[in-house]
Amino acid sequence: MNVIITENYESMSKEAAKIVVDTMSKKINAVLGLATGSTPEGMYAELCRSYNKGEISFRAVNSVNLDEYYPISATNNQSYRYFMNKNLFDKVDINKSNTYVPNGEAKDAAAECKSYDELIASLGGIDLQILGIGRNGHIGFNEPNGELIPVTHLTSLTESTIESNSKYFPTPSDMPRSALTMGIGTILNAKKIVIMASGKEKHEAILKMLTGKVTTMWPATMLNLHNDVTLICDRRAYYGE
Ligand code: GLP
Repeated sequence: MNVIITENYESMSKEAAKIVVDTMSKKINAVLGLATGSTPEGMYAELCRSYNKGEISFRAVNSVNLDEYYPISATNNQSYRYFMNKNLFDKVDINKSNTYVPNGEAKDAAAECKSYDELIASLGGIDLQILGIGRNGHIGFNEPNGELIPVTHLTSLTESTIESNSKYFPTPSDMPRSALTMGIGTILNAKKIVIMASGKEKHEAILKMLTGKVTTMWPATMLNLHNDVTLICDRRAYYGE
């Protein structure tokens, strides 16, 4: 695993954006695997700045997001579709019909998951997958468990994740208790992976990942099975300062 330690959140965001720009400059129709959460917000702002300066275009890009709450309406301001529109898609020249987020309104979750994996395959796979990391080491919504599901699936959220994310909802009970998420296999199939982390509360999960070992109880450790992963984290996440 390549490791880039940055001074702070801003420099972490810039480093991650550089890798996205590099991927897009090598392949104009790159398939970007995108993530939500507070961690990548700064990276999206950097990408919007590059776009405004005329350095990059998303015209031929396809994007596939990692996950979505379930059930949730796309217009709910806590949905990941809403997040992506607000932070990136509405601000750049991407063709919205080439942006994919698991459908939190799907009637049949299993069918939605199956067609999501088929969609990724039909796009030729993911060129670059961006990831954040949960305090408990989850990636996407692959929560710690004795067994992990390799493909896109419906999953229950853990108490730790509900506690972390419910503050964004009007009341904690408004937060969905399930989500649709790419599986670990879907993520590991990406050609290149960048995982970002900022803040002391991610330190333990980062340490587990950096042991180089693999355990389903810390899902991010599964990234040790991939040969092109870059961790970009600030000093607080790396040193637990
Ligand atoms: C969420 C998302 C993850 C994200 C993680 C960390 O639950 N499903 O994709 O990486 O939690 O979020 P944050 O970046 O806000 O700490």
